Amino acid sequence: MSLRLGDVAPDFTAETTAGTIKFHEWLGNGWGILFSHPADFTPVCTTELGAMSKLIPEFTKRNVKVAALSADPLDSHKKWVNDINETQNTTVNYPIIADPEFKVANMYGMVHPNVTDKFTVRSVFVIGPDKKVKLTITYPASTGRNFDEILRVIDSLQLTANYSVATPANWKNGEDVIITTAVKDEDIPAKFPKGHKKIKPYLRTTPQPNL
Ligand code: BEZ
Repeated sequence: MSLRLGDVAPDFTAETTAGTIKFHEWLGNGWGILFSHPADFTPVCTTELGAMSKLIPEFTKRNVKVAALSADPLDSHKKWVNDINETQNTTVNYPIIADPEFKVANMYGMVHPNVTDKFTVRSVFVIGPDKKVKLTITYPASTGRNFDEILRVIDSLQLTANYSVATPANWKNGEDVIITTAVKDEDIPAKFPKGHKKIKPYLRTTPQPNL
């Protein structure tokens, strides 16, 4: 069964390269990203885990914990991390979950049997402080993910969680945001003192409120 937005992210206990984690306890009160990759010692995955490693300071700044997963065993992950560090010029310091029995993968619907039942696809789950799923993305094995996009979505989700705003197409951090339709025109000046533009009654924009 696939997980949908708003579902509670399933809890689990798993062995990882950073020791055993109880997922919900490990997430604490912050945000989380769980992303799966097909297999250890594979080229695209090696670049992906390196790219994520370099972005960890950005996720930490945003109170987001990151965990990767593949169905390979822990000793394989530990050996592979050396290759990632060497080839991607980084030091992977987030946990990689070992899931050799596909327990977590099946809970999260990370195996798509009409593609293959041999490994997990490239799933991404963003989990909010309420432990609910806020974003799911699935990429095929042949396409490495854009981790800047995941950071961009976190920025958007956190703006929505903290202010009554949404973000437009192709929005980037620093650009104007959309005032949600739940906010009445008369309440805008107090809520958004940086000003706003009313392009249509339903399309009102304001400078990004947290800058
Ligand atoms: C890769 O990471 O390069 C990869 C892994 C599994 C299937 C195809 C590509």
